[in-house]
Amino acid sequence: MTEGASRLWGGRFAGSSAEAFDALNASLPVDQRLWREDIRGSRAHAAMLGAQGIISSEDAAAIDAGLAAIEAEMESGAFVFQPGDEDIHTAVERRLTEIAGDAGRRLHTGRSRNDQVITDTLLWIREHGTAQAAALKALAEALIARAGEHLDTLVPGYTHLQRAQPVRLAHHLLAYAWMLDRDHRRLMFAVESAGESPLGSGALAGSGFDIDRAATADALGFDRISPNSMDAVGSRDALVDYLAFAAQLGVHLSRLGAEFVWWSTEEVGFVVLDDAYASGSSMLPQKKNPDAAELARGKAARLSADLQGLLGALAGLPLAYNKDLQDDKHFVFDAADTLDLLLPAMTGMVATADFRADAMTRAAGQGFLAATDLADHLVRQGWPFRKAHEAVGALVRVCGDRGAGLADASTADLAAAGLEGIDVPELTALASVETKDVPGGTARARVQQQLDEIAKRVAAW
Ligand code: ARG
Repeated sequence: MTEGASRLWGGRFAGSSAEAFDALNASLPVDQRLWREDIRGSRAHAAMLGAQGIISSEDAAAIDAGLAAIEAEMESGAFVFQPGDEDIHTAVERRLTEIAGDAGRRLHTGRSRNDQVITDTLLWIREHGTAQAAALKALAEALIARAGEHLDTLVPGYTHLQRAQPVRLAHHLLAYAWMLDRDHRRLMFAVESAGESPLGSGALAGSGFDIDRAATADALGFDRISPNSMDAVGSRDALVDYLAFAAQLGVHLSRLGAEFVWWSTEEVGFVVLDDAYASGSSMLPQKKNPDAAELARGKAARLSADLQGLLGALAGLPLAYNKDLQDDKHFVFDAADTLDLLLPAMTGMVATADFRADAMTRAAGQGFLAATDLADHLVRQGWPFRKAHEAVGALVRVCGDRGAGLADASTADLAAAGLEGIDVPELTALASVETKDVPGGTARARVQQQLDEIAKRVAAW
């Protein structure tokens, strides 16, 4: 057997741990980024132990000074991790004991790494989630600003990626702003769900000391304390809530990315991406690739895998803490880091994109996008909708067969479709969008209304 680093808390063991086991068991590479939260949690815990008279005030002061010194070492990069530091909690406690001796050895009184690790992780989600809301807001604001510039730009709206009906570009862009509004709500829910302090739950049963859980919860900015110690150390619901937010946002960014990828093709030509958000090809000199949009499209897979990964690790676990849970942070950090990369890039891409209003408006007026408007017109004349649908469908076929659009329908075409004698209304894209004058519709006044509403909502995030 290869012997690993000397075992921590080894009283129970006659032999030392194997190197292969230590390598598997260690979580330091992932959880060392929790050092701020870990030190914060420990300082609150030690102060409470002192205030409750569980440890002496001298020991509490020595622990606090030691933790402050460790914080400074972490901050400056002077902190040296040792091979035996299994995770961030053991690293901090080991160093504290080097600095403060027996006082350091008293820090873990009435506490377990089980309540400690989930406390740290919830604190991290609360901090990071709040910061991430700002990045989300910047993207929503970019979409809203671009929508404001393009209230009067018409673009084909699609179903099945077939031209369906004209819409305002603002309407199309704002659809994404509304998605982000829901994502923001989900993010705030995750932050709220991380607002319950598990500290004081101990390994699983609570603590035998007269600890003051409300005091540590307060000191750490939690909203309340967890009501069940086994649930508190065994659940990862707030992490799942965060990952569910991230996965759903990932899908929204993926769809936005997909729009930009195909809008920027030569075939479509609705948008020209700024050079700052595109890259070249190593071989093909003419290429300008929409990499940012493609990466946004692709990363939804990773974000939903993070959610799936944690759910998979949780399912079937009996209460309370199980080591399987150690992987939880990997998923949360991966999702958070992915979004930290994506959000600013998407914001920049949207803010700098050159929307080709000319190409969009031209496409919105071509072909048969007004077919439904013609059918609706016949309905207003008293035609049953099904009959109108049938006749206009025939007209589309007749015109299409000779390569003409609806706007070029001749008297002969109308007759061939059984529409002789009808008075043909104005079938422009503009006339079409203006008839969609219902709440949520694409008429100018309605789009202006939703723009004002979403801008107000986002301003209040
Ligand atoms: N590194 C561990 C984790 O991330 C800390 C909790 C360890 N608890 C235990 N009973 N071994 O989950």
